[in-house]
Amino acid sequence: MQSVDTAIRARLHSDVPLVSQVAEYIITSGGKRIRPALLLLAAGATTYRGTQHCELAAVVEFIHTATLLHDDVVDESALRRGRKTANAQFGNAASVLVGDFLYSRAFQMMVGLGSMRVMQVLADATNVIAEGEVLQLMNCHNADVSFEDYLRVVRYKTAKLFEASARLGAILGNASSEVETGLANYGTHLGTAFQIVDDVLDYSGEEGEIGKNLGDDLAEGKPTLPLIHVIKTGNPTQSEMVRAALEEGGRENFQEIIHAVKATGALDAAMAVAKAESDQAKRALSSLPRTNYLGALIELSDFAVARRH
Ligand code: IPE
Ligand code: IPE
Ligand code: MG
Ligand code: MG
Repeated sequence: MQSVDTAIRARLHSDVPLVSQVAEYIITSGGKRIRPALLLLAAGATTYRGTQHCELAAVVEFIHTATLLHDDVVDESALRRGRKTANAQFGNAASVLVGDFLYSRAFQMMVGLGSMRVMQVLADATNVIAEGEVLQLMNCHNADVSFEDYLRVVRYKTAKLFEASARLGAILGNASSEVETGLANYGTHLGTAFQIVDDVLDYSGEEGEIGKNLGDDLAEGKPTLPLIHVIKTGNPTQSEMVRAALEEGGRENFQEIIHAVKATGALDAAMAVAKAESDQAKRALSSLPRTNYLGALIELSDFAVARRH
């Protein structure tokens, strides 16, 4: 992973000082680097022995970072990776524009790799991520959003880049279409579990561990799985309170909402869905050869559910 960070740093440069400043601020602030890890493990599992994997892993991390810069503006978030968000530190305009810089730098890098297949996968993934964020925007403040509507947002905004990262590892390794599809499906289910847990941690995490403020989702009126569960299974008072809080947005009712979320078992129910996705991710690996990389992919799917950060 150190060599991925070397590739990231080598490509961060811009002659425009504010670009370098904002890009370095976010990139060097200690993200988990899960998408690069996924790409490297997928490539390893297919016995790839080339030299492009670190550059491609840097590409997916750049795309992820660009989405975070934009996402924190849209979500009006103030804390990420244990420090002020780029928008809180440098303003919304700088965050959006440097997000565009990172997106386009990622595309410069992938063109440099010279594979039409790789470009196709990443062009499709970034396009779907953008649709996912817009779908989510349309769902905000809507208490009638269903589990299926929610799942679609998660598949688009988060799971798609996990899927692309795993698929790219397979493509680098010239894997059979069976193995490529297996790894891509693994990525989809892993990413889905990962986002559902993120949505649970937004109500139940420790700020010091997740490095983000709790309650950001409620503040934006986001109908995530814990709230969908309360609306569906809570008593009329609980259900009505959550509906009203979603429609209003804001953090005023955060403590009461947490109480209802816990009392109705909504966090456990959401975690059960995450666990089922993680199990499905593991099953998607059945056509892979038994290597240490396969073991690490299985561990990664356990981490996605067990994580506290
Ligand atoms: C945050 O992703 C956005 C989600 C998809 C939940 P990560 O949790 O991977 O963020 P970093 O890169 O580790 O900070
Ligand atoms: C993930 O959604 C954002 C993207 C995949 C772009 P969230 O809004 O839940 O992510 P955090 O909680 O801000 O990291
Ligand atoms: Mg957010
Ligand atoms: Mg979140």
